[in-house]
Amino acid sequence: MVDSAQHPGWPAQLAWGPVELHPPRRRDAEEWSRVRLVNEAWLAPWEPTASSPWAGRHTPAAYRAMRRVVLRRAAMGVTLPFVVRVDGRLAGQVTIDNVVRGALRSGNLGYWIDRAVAGRGMASLAVALVCDHAFGAVRLHRLQADIRPENGPSRRLVERLGFRHEGLLRRYLDIDGTWRDHDTFALLAEDPPDGVLGRWRTRIPR
Ligand SMILES: CC(C)(COP(=O)(O)OP(=O)(O)OC[C@H]1O[C@@H](n2cnc3c(N)ncnc32)[C@H](O)[C@@H]1OP(=O)(O)O)[C@@H](O)C(=O)NCCC(=O)NCCS
Repeated sequence: MVDSAQHPGWPAQLAWGPVELHPPRRRDAEEWSRVRLVNEAWLAPWEPTASSPWAGRHTPAAYRAMRRVVLRRAAMGVTLPFVVRVDGRLAGQVTIDNVVRGALRSGNLGYWIDRAVAGRGMASLAVALVCDHAFGAVRLHRLQADIRPENGPSRRLVERLGFRHEGLLRRYLDIDGTWRDHDTFALLAEDPPDGVLGRWRTRIPR
């Protein structure tokens, strides 16, 4: 049972145009497994180092185990895990993790999109919807996105939505086999005057 006083804005469903976001459902297991398995080469360079092979970590049973853990953490108020659908098909995930309240009121943003859907603005639309929700119902003030300097598409995504570069974090995360430098970007609740979706819709050029 989620205590909405402890974790305002959760659970939630968000939607705009072809994109819909919802908490991970038990019935998403087969679809999630299929999409993750075909995207191994696309996703692995940006994912945490793991000690077991990709295939074993992406079975429907692995999804169900992961779902139990993240929903428990979501009920505690430390994460907001969303599954992304584009035109009804499971196409990615957007997560706000490490939510801290008190004086900071911050969270870390993570996301991935199916390669078959990439390059159409769907990932940035999904992230924009989650940002507006985080600054609205969830009442956060700051969202942070940490991105490897080599990850051009991810960097472009946050810059397009108005995130600002705040610095370089040396050997910050253990990604794809070793400690990797990350550029850290942040967006504050007051940064986008017409909301993040408003910014996505006007498609301000880089
Ligand atoms: C990072 C990632 C999510 C970016 O996805 P993406 O599909 O490239 O991102 P977008 O939704 O912004 O789509 C990009 C293209 O859509 C179009 N687009 C962007 N905003 C748009 C809008 N408002 N309206 C219409 N089209 C738009 C543009 O053509 C844009 O290309 P450009 O960057 O050359 O201008 C994807 O590359 C991915 O999943 N990578 C692997 C995992 C990963 O790196 N995760 C992040 C780790 S930090």
